[in-house]
Amino acid sequence: MPDSIAVIGSNMIDLVTYVERMPNRGETLEAPRFQQGFGGKGANQAVAAARLGATVAMITCVGDDGFGHQTRENLERNGVDVSHLRMVKGAVSGVAPIFVEPDGENAILIVKGANVHLSPDDVAAAATTLAACDAILLQLEVPLETVYAAVAFGAENGVTTILNPAPANRDLDLSQLAGLDWFCPNESELAALSGMPADTDAGVVEAARTLIAQGIRNVVVTLGGRGARLVTTEEVHVIDPVPVDPVDTTGAGDAFIGSFARFLSGGATPLDALNLAARYAAHSITGHGTQSSYADGAAFDTFCRDHDV
Ligand code: RIB
Repeated sequence: MPDSIAVIGSNMIDLVTYVERMPNRGETLEAPRFQQGFGGKGANQAVAAARLGATVAMITCVGDDGFGHQTRENLERNGVDVSHLRMVKGAVSGVAPIFVEPDGENAILIVKGANVHLSPDDVAAAATTLAACDAILLQLEVPLETVYAAVAFGAENGVTTILNPAPANRDLDLSQLAGLDWFCPNESELAALSGMPADTDAGVVEAARTLIAQGIRNVVVTLGGRGARLVTTEEVHVIDPVPVDPVDTTGAGDAFIGSFARFLSGGATPLDALNLAARYAAHSITGHGTQSSYADGAAFDTFCRDHDV
């Protein structure tokens, strides 16, 4: 099926508190605003791709609780195929308490809950769906063995694999990622995973190239307000940032990755797909919450027109 993406990953319920400042240890502080929403890096990326018109299936685990049922309904409402969503008896669904400061920057806690049950067996059970996809999208809020199994499946079946190694996990074994097509960390994840400083442009390229030397084909490093870099064996491309006034940066990375997967599987060149993804992520930080800030195709077109891009 054309433009089809499988996301093998997490879902969470986001509990977002907007604060004037972060509380000190032992302090009780009043906060002006709270919002509950649908999140989790996997589900966010799935919803971004689906809102932009991709055919998306999600392989994920929820608890057999209220949040689990709401998560399934939310994915269905967004047109995501949930045939491979598994409700784990006795498990709680994942939740993420999130704090957002007035400049839009955030701090996130994750309680993985049922997400820890997503296993290589779930990947095997979805084999027919996965083999028919253009791209498999992965993150690190589920067990590493599951990520390795999905990368291996993609390599064996000629399906493009995209890994967003978030949150950073130093136990990630790069030797298990041979054949991975796209590795998309932010700069702190790149530093943690390469063991090299990545706080300058030269450092980003050097650290990315150590990953390429280990068998990863392309590295895309997101740099927040500084845009992104695409690093391959021979080339380095700059993806310019799209200036906006940020309200809430939570989930911007997921907006970038989910939309990149959608544009790439829709036939855009990698550079075009990355430039469009930078615009999609920029739009997302002008709204509150994670999935609640993601544009559909029409709203995204309007944003691009209004921002002359
Ligand atoms: O990347 C943002 C996401 O991280 C949030 O939606 C939260 O659920 C955590 O997974």
